[in-house]
Amino acid sequence: MTDARLPDLGPRPASAESGYDAGSELPTHVGEPIVKVEKLEKYFGSNHVLRGVDLEVRQREAVMIIGRSGSGKTTLLRCINFLEEPTVGWVEVDGVRLQADPLRARSRPHQEKIRQIRLRAGMLFQEFNLFPHMSVLDNCTEAPMRVSGVRRDEAVTRAEGYLDKVGLLEKRDEYPARLSGGQKQRVAIARALCMEPKVLLFDEPTSALDPELIGEVLLVMEDLAHEGTTMIVVTHEMHFAQEAADRVVFMEDGVVIEQGPPEQVLNDPRHEETAHFLRRFLDR
Ligand SMILES: Nc1ncnc2c1ncn2[C@@H]1O[C@H](COP(=O)(O)OP(=O)(O)OP(=O)(O)O)[C@@H](O)[C@H]1O
Ligand SMILES: [Mg+2]
Repeated sequence: MTDARLPDLGPRPASAESGYDAGSELPTHVGEPIVKVEKLEKYFGSNHVLRGVDLEVRQREAVMIIGRSGSGKTTLLRCINFLEEPTVGWVEVDGVRLQADPLRARSRPHQEKIRQIRLRAGMLFQEFNLFPHMSVLDNCTEAPMRVSGVRRDEAVTRAEGYLDKVGLLEKRDEYPARLSGGQKQRVAIARALCMEPKVLLFDEPTSALDPELIGEVLLVMEDLAHEGTTMIVVTHEMHFAQEAADRVVFMEDGVVIEQGPPEQVLNDPRHEETAHFLRRFLDR
């Protein structure tokens, strides 16, 4: 598993290690709010899946969302970059602010804002979604060239840099079919980084992997988090959340029940619902 190791990214900033400012709930290394979700609601037919979610994520913050199956975690992530059109509420990513407007979802101005939001919020899925007919390198250069108009030589340099970061530069000419699941997911992470988004959205990025491949992906993500990549991660990997999160958010029945530093939410939850979820989770 030597290629699972990342290059030495240097020590985590002292401020991140020391935790929190006295009297403040925020880690000291985080910046201004970059993602804002306000009063977000989503119905699928009569199923009221998100029931008024408020969430703010700051620059360089790693926010991990936990909660039982069906609580609306995936729907929330998909609404943030409008893979699902929310029913009510607001989403703002890096200054691009868009109100849910299901009736006019197809209008040109709405679609343009969605495009702007997606450029800023890169999404990673359980099933990687690499292009099978393209090499690893081409998977990474395709969107920057086609969507962002980056010149090929620059796109290649960028891709090589991010492939190196996820420990897979030597696979640049390989095709996805010849990679392990863990390697595919690391390429998918490099590909998302190549668009240089303001925030990465991960939906259970290791849940489709064999257990022995999970660690290498979590290691990459943990290093990104410690480096200051802004990310929102839906995960069931509690140990990972403990290590890599600045903040853990517990969702139930489409609302945020509780949020705070991982050691508080995971070890000393304030709400009975959170405690109940964690007890059941640990008992499995
Ligand atoms: N495309 C869809 N159409 C209809 N209902 C949906 C759709 N996507 C999700 N739902 C419903 O929304 C609810 C929340 O689903 P969601 O996938 O957001 O939960 P989750 O918290 O991500 O669960 P899990 O941990 O199992 O991934 C569920 O009741 C689900 O059946
Ligand atoms: Mg889900």
